[in-house]
Amino acid sequence: MVMSGLSDSIIGRAVTNGLLSIEAVNIRDFAFNKHNKVDDYTYGGGAGMLMQAEPVYLCYEDIIKRISARRAEDGSKDKKVRVVYLTPQGDVFNQNMAKELSREDDLILLCGHYEGIDERVLESIVTDNVSIGDYVLTGGEIPAMIVVDAVARLCPGVLHNDDSAETESFSDGLLEYPQYSRPEVWHDMKVPEILLSGDHAAVDRWRHEQSLIRTRERRPDLYDKYISSHNV
Ligand code: 6GU
Repeated sequence: MVMSGLSDSIIGRAVTNGLLSIEAVNIRDFAFNKHNKVDDYTYGGGAGMLMQAEPVYLCYEDIIKRISARRAEDGSKDKKVRVVYLTPQGDVFNQNMAKELSREDDLILLCGHYEGIDERVLESIVTDNVSIGDYVLTGGEIPAMIVVDAVARLCPGVLHNDDSAETESFSDGLLEYPQYSRPEVWHDMKVPEILLSGDHAAVDRWRHEQSLIRTRERRPDLYDKYISSHNV
């Protein structure tokens, strides 16, 4: 599911063009019993199964070995690889986190499943705990795909139009202004006159104003932050 979701469209094209690579690793391949079982009952009782520490750790070690080997081949520095655990208990993911993660050469995303993962392996390998919002999902795979998409599109060359990553919603803490394409009149609704004026400075002013209005209406939390950081 993860690979098919990320093999499409912009991220898929970036992978095809060799700008980045994405790999899904199945922790079940690191089970040490013949049924590929990686979960077990929890100590202390209660409902639900827990992912055991060892398969997760073996999987992690295998990935780290391969990253180190590749770095040795590239002659790049073998620094610590960040391990992002997707969990509703993490820091809520945002554009700043995406930007920060996009500066890493390698990332390991660990998806929780069942009722979770044995705390000891998390303590041993996880560097960042990330949630995608305050709601409950069945597993960390969709959150991981969201993080990959948000991070990958910030990598150099992934978006062809270089400034589209900078002018859009959130890049400056405001929501994007409304946009219009042909025709000039659709269902009796006209494109705002200013956009047809050819006056680029006026268009920029209008767009910024619209961003402010829209952000104040739809995301007063972002608006307040913007206003206080720009001390207007
Ligand atoms: Cl990262 N995982 C799961 N299972 N549920 C979530 C989440 C992550 N973020 C929000 N809900």
